[in-house]
Amino acid sequence: MNVGLKILGFGSGVATVCLISVPESSSAFEQIANSTIFCKWRKSQYHRADNARMTMRAVALKESLISAEALFVSDSVDYPPAPGKDQAIVKVAYFGLNRMDIMQRQGTYPVPTGAPNTLGVEFSGSIVTIGDGTESPLQIGDVVFGLVAGGAYAEYVLCSTKLLMKYETPSAESTFTQLSAGGAPEVWFTATQALLKIARIHENKDRVKCVLIHAGASGVGIAGLQLARAVLGPEAQIFATVGSDEKVRFVESVMGATKGINYKKYDFAKVILEYTSGAGADVVVDFIGQEYFMRNIAVAAMDAHIVMLSLMSGSVVDGRVDIAGILRKRLTIQGSTLRSRTIAYQSDVRALFETYGLPGLVRGEFVNPVDKVFAWTSVADAHRYMESNVSMGKIMCVVE
Ligand SMILES: NC(=O)c1ccc[n+]([C@@H]2O[C@H](COP(=O)([O-])OP(=O)(O)OC[C@H]3O[C@@H](n4cnc5c(N)ncnc54)[C@H](OP(=O)(O)O)[C@@H]3O)[C@@H](O)[C@H]2O)c1
Repeated sequence: MNVGLKILGFGSGVATVCLISVPESSSAFEQIANSTIFCKWRKSQYHRADNARMTMRAVALKESLISAEALFVSDSVDYPPAPGKDQAIVKVAYFGLNRMDIMQRQGTYPVPTGAPNTLGVEFSGSIVTIGDGTESPLQIGDVVFGLVAGGAYAEYVLCSTKLLMKYETPSAESTFTQLSAGGAPEVWFTATQALLKIARIHENKDRVKCVLIHAGASGVGIAGLQLARAVLGPEAQIFATVGSDEKVRFVESVMGATKGINYKKYDFAKVILEYTSGAGADVVVDFIGQEYFMRNIAVAAMDAHIVMLSLMSGSVVDGRVDIAGILRKRLTIQGSTLRSRTIAYQSDVRALFETYGLPGLVRGEFVNPVDKVFAWTSVADAHRYMESNVSMGKIMCVVE
């Protein structure tokens, strides 16, 4: 926050005026700024006088640019509105980057109605305010990590308590630090959504023998490979496509893939059909779209489920497209998004994650690897690094 607090005092709703000056860096500043009475006062000030609005630092965009240079830390972004029932404000310690942040920066992502303009959908930090009437075991001061529709590239973020998870100290074997936890919700929820909520591999273990996960070294891919292996067991054949031999080694040796396929060298459909003696993959998780659409149909097994989560190569399939395989193999092709969903839908995914994903992360059986950490003042470098496609795991920013 950038206000050198000139606070009007309160007393029975009457304006007892007292001027307090508290250093911005002090804990007293934070306590006052986030006290229920101050938040209520602040909320009313929005309607009364614009020049009295509370501001904070957050990543903003220079409007004339769409490249990473557009990103900068502004000190005059509106502090979040006071939390309502089942909402909280969290002081952000770390936020994770996601592919969609790049698209949002470029103006090509359909941001859900009502989401803040500020980028960022996942974070960890500590709760500073909880809305009146909220029913939650969470308390002010708790260290948490969570998912939001936007606004996480900031000092403070308003979130639903239903999508906040308390951060517990993990076992000594675990690498699930608070930093790593800040980059878990979006990618683990997305993998959980694809494999469990949509393809329901946990209920179809007898039938699902082979899974293909594209972009296997992406944040979502890494979560998906581990979930698929844990749910389906050591006998399942789990394939991942990746863009380098280094990533092949990573998904095979660290992430439990049966085989990583460098798509720049090999046709993944051909490799997998050979490997499975023509049977193909029962579940395909795709982020690539256009370039892979026909090969996904070719590699799909009978009654397979293709879950489409992104269109990184484009959305228009060229040429005369033979869709007979969809009919002949009785395929289900299903698209989905997480960010545009209701809190209720996301809470269902959270419950599945808390059953199938989070315990393994806390025990150290799963990892949410952090590839690189940037100071948030270098957020443009962080975006450029993501765009270079070399990362194997999460790219994180520290809010300082
Ligand atoms: N629908 C949803 O609900 C939802 C939610 C979250 C994320 N997503 C999607 O999930 C995907 C992964 O997100 P993330 O944040 O985990 O990504 P990430 O960690 O940034 O990794 C993305 C990887 O995709 C590969 N890639 C990029 N462009 C490609 C192309 N044209 N063809 C083939 N591979 C390409 C690159 O790896 P290689 O070097 O291996 O090619 C890149 O490192 C993104 O597409 C994102 O939009 C969807």
